[in-house]
Amino acid sequence: MAELPMNIPTVDLADLSSEDPSRIERGALALREAFGVFGLVYVKNHGVDAQALERLYDAFGAFIARPTEAKRPYGRADIWYQRGWTPPNTEVAVAGNGQPDFKECYFAAPYPPDENSVLEFPNLYPDNIWPEDAPPYFQEGLLSLGRSLHEAGLSLLKGAAVALGLPQTTFTGFCERGPHVTRALQYLPLKPSQVNTGILWGEEHTDFNLLTLLPGGRFLDPQARPAPRPDDQSGLYLRTRATPEQPKGRLVRGVAPAGCIVAQVGQQLEILTGGTFLATPHVITAPGVPGWQRQSAAHFMHVHTSTVLFPLEKFRTPEAVRNYAPPVLAGTYDIKTLVDIGLASPDALDQLGYRHYDRLHRMRADGSST
Ligand SMILES: [Fe+2]
Repeated sequence: MAELPMNIPTVDLADLSSEDPSRIERGALALREAFGVFGLVYVKNHGVDAQALERLYDAFGAFIARPTEAKRPYGRADIWYQRGWTPPNTEVAVAGNGQPDFKECYFAAPYPPDENSVLEFPNLYPDNIWPEDAPPYFQEGLLSLGRSLHEAGLSLLKGAAVALGLPQTTFTGFCERGPHVTRALQYLPLKPSQVNTGILWGEEHTDFNLLTLLPGGRFLDPQARPAPRPDDQSGLYLRTRATPEQPKGRLVRGVAPAGCIVAQVGQQLEILTGGTFLATPHVITAPGVPGWQRQSAAHFMHVHTSTVLFPLEKFRTPEAVRNYAPPVLAGTYDIKTLVDIGLASPDALDQLGYRHYDRLHRMRADGSST
């Protein structure tokens, strides 16, 4: 894949949190272009501690290195893998023709849910799961990373609302007590026979949540030691918006400038803005050498499950309505997507809402003599 230079804007969170209208305007302008054209932005002054991130990757790597049998109790299909360990070859990208991703992950929620949401969507708000003998700093590291990324995300969402001429709290309001999750990921080593066979670490997809924050990853060499990238072909690539000249968009490498993190637009933000902001298609390519792994992390910010996903009034043009109809409850949309990507089983869709037919069948079976 050729690396094409693109001018993806960098936003300074200090601009967005400043009292100076011209600095806020500068930040909003960067976000307007970044989210509108590329679907992502580089972020500086983000508050994520780089040393703590390294410690978390050490701890997570120690967990992943355990035998499968030791990890299996934390791989919970019954809660759709929304907490704990995701085994390899479980998740699939919808656009990837169903090929499972070559990765293992661990999910945790950095904030506790509210009781009503748990009752309404138990599998979207389960309790966190931790290995009993977790490597030191694993739990604390994942939770504190999630919280710092979330704080950065809230500033970006306020800036994004200003950039669109909306009240500043429009998107952060939708986010309150949402099913946010933080994930540590480890992409698996290729065997010599698998190298350059087209196997991808992560198939091309768009994220289904509101905003994803990526603090940056690291490679592990065949001895599982942190090391610089083994070659030029592995890493995160993004597809830009289609234009008449480039109907397939352009694939660009998403390498953040030193010290920056990446924030990318998910489907929920695209829907709410009627496509003004764009969910970024992205793919993780594997290296051309065997034995190497990659560790990374992501924080997924979601709108609350009770939010109706439909373009906000300002963006509700006939075209936007056509593109995003019908309005769907975010919690329902979450369940549907988790089925689509292989984490929830398809019968989750049969369990939605008032299950009248089941009840009637039971009543008819029980009351056959009357
Ligand atoms: Fe993604």
